[in-house]
Amino acid sequence: MGEHAKSVVLAARPAGKPHPSDFRIEEGPVPEPGPGRFLARTIWLSLDPYMRGRMDDARSYAPAAEVGGAMPGECVAEVVASRHPDWRPGEIVVGPLGWTTHAVSDGTGMRRVDPAVAPVSTALGVLGMPGHAAWVGLNEIAGARAGETIVVSAATGAVGSVVGQLARLQGLTAIGVAGGPEKCAWAEAELGYAACLDHSAAPDAAALAAEIAAAAPGGVDVYYDNVGGKTLEAVLPAMNPHGRVALCGTIAWHSGQGVAEAMPLPLAWRAILTRRLTVRGFIVFDHAASLPRFLAEMAPLVKSGKVVWRESIAEGLEAAPEAFLRLLDGGNFGKQLVRVGPEPR
Ligand SMILES: NC(=O)c1ccc[n+]([C@@H]2O[C@H](COP(=O)([O-])OP(=O)(O)OC[C@H]3O[C@@H](n4cnc5c(N)ncnc54)[C@H](OP(=O)(O)O)[C@@H]3O)[C@@H](O)[C@H]2O)c1
Repeated sequence: MGEHAKSVVLAARPAGKPHPSDFRIEEGPVPEPGPGRFLARTIWLSLDPYMRGRMDDARSYAPAAEVGGAMPGECVAEVVASRHPDWRPGEIVVGPLGWTTHAVSDGTGMRRVDPAVAPVSTALGVLGMPGHAAWVGLNEIAGARAGETIVVSAATGAVGSVVGQLARLQGLTAIGVAGGPEKCAWAEAELGYAACLDHSAAPDAAALAAEIAAAAPGGVDVYYDNVGGKTLEAVLPAMNPHGRVALCGTIAWHSGQGVAEAMPLPLAWRAILTRRLTVRGFIVFDHAASLPRFLAEMAPLVKSGKVVWRESIAEGLEAAPEAFLRLLDGGNFGKQLVRVGPEPR
């Protein structure tokens, strides 16, 4: 056919902030599926903050990416050839195929996507891992209840935008924290946040803390923490006794950025004691059992327009590294995707 497969591989492990030179494009023949396998061509590649951690060789909840190997990641793809009894050409699937135009899979970690529910790209966002993380953190980790006040950081991102909307639908008052006036305006107008505070306009944690105290005069019962950093420092003083923190992400400290000005541990530790807080970290991949329940609840909300979403789209696999670096700096607005190939007609 003369078609080639392309992949983005990890060229070097970054020291601190990653650079475009840490990635390399490799080209080769389109792989052939052996017995029990199928070939998929990527339509959408998801870019997620966790991928920064995979570039390091440190101990974590998942294995590191290999230098010279394809970057790990989830894709929405079309099955184009199959020697697997359960997967048929033409089916749209989502799963861990990596930063690549074509991949062979034995089906591990893959599931089908129903294009009738919503655009298939949502299987990487509101109806995928980030949406599931939002749902798990809100319900199973924080035990959020109607009438409570929740603060959500990275409030307009893939995870945060779903947390805010579900919290509002469940009868909580949601206060968002996001970077810039455009994100904050969307959070208030479309996502149902009672207020959204711009962390980039607050000169320091004390200024942001004053804004949070004013927005939540009755205190904060739940903090859905997507970032750590200055925002964590600002929210903790507003927490009510016996409040809960769903610890989802620490992107403000990724790449060594912000570590120099990180809040001192004793301050956070003492706030946990004096407010009798429950702080619980979680990794959504441990919660695979609740994925069908999440999808059953979420699909009708998305289909009916009760839950909305937004995407930032980079064009072509080659654009993935730059788009990923932008994501780490807050340059995305909603779920960051890469359009790798066309949708089937
Ligand atoms: N535990 C889990 O299982 C799990 C699953 C999915 C995601 N996560 C974590 O959840 C967080 C959000 O993920 P996502 O996929 O939804 O990404 P996202 O929110 O769509 O994008 C990342 C956002 O983080 C914010 N950010 C970046 N640097 C920041 C800084 N120094 N201070 C404050 N905010 C900063 C930016 O938003 P602003 O411009 O609004 O600041 C940026 O747009 C990440 O930390 C991710 O690692 C965890």
